[in-house]
Amino acid sequence: MSYVQPSTPGTKGDVTTKNGTQSWFYTDTVKDHFFNPRNFMHEDANSDDYNAVGKVGSPACGDELRVWMKVGPETEKILDFRWKTFGCGSAIASTSMCSVMVTENGGMTLTEARGLKPQDIMERLGGLPSRKFHCSVLCDKALRDAINDYYRRAGQFDKMIVEATRVIDPVSKVTDHDIEEAVLEGATTVEAVQAKTKVGVGNPSVLPAVEELIRFYREKYFGAESK
Ligand code: FES
Repeated sequence: MSYVQPSTPGTKGDVTTKNGTQSWFYTDTVKDHFFNPRNFMHEDANSDDYNAVGKVGSPACGDELRVWMKVGPETEKILDFRWKTFGCGSAIASTSMCSVMVTENGGMTLTEARGLKPQDIMERLGGLPSRKFHCSVLCDKALRDAINDYYRRAGQFDKMIVEATRVIDPVSKVTDHDIEEAVLEGATTVEAVQAKTKVGVGNPSVLPAVEELIRFYREKYFGAESK
């Protein structure tokens, strides 16, 4: 996985640890969206003007994101998309870019928006540091939550997609969601996921299922070619 394409490393917005041993470089596009976020929900905006809301928290860092959507009832196109977050710079840039992508060219339909992947957002941003992948997933999840909220309010329950959590290892109580978070945190092998979650420790029979899930989430978030 090589998503980091630093433009001008060391410029405003990049981060270096105090001892100088580690740096995070951000592309110019990321910095632009961080310093000039698009479609931010302003304090004086009226949330009643929107017909769907979504909310998500990140178990990886405790940050939170809320989104508001205005959907055309006839076309099911996203006419407006606003957001607020307590997230970091990467979350701000990702959400800002996501808000542009779902509303540009007249707006995506809800079906098209469901097909939007964090990877698509990262590509438009020119990449993010690998430890920041989970931040780009916040918007994707909040968007899905808002789409469900739209269908719930419209009484179209059959169009809602709810992702239930499944226990993968009854011994360590690790769920598929825990494995998803581990992959987003950069653990892309069984050993790395085990180190983070203890899945399969004392219960190796679950490891093939763990491997399968790692492959699934790797492809979902980083593309089919990811290794
Ligand atoms: S959203 Fe929490 S670290 Fe980025």
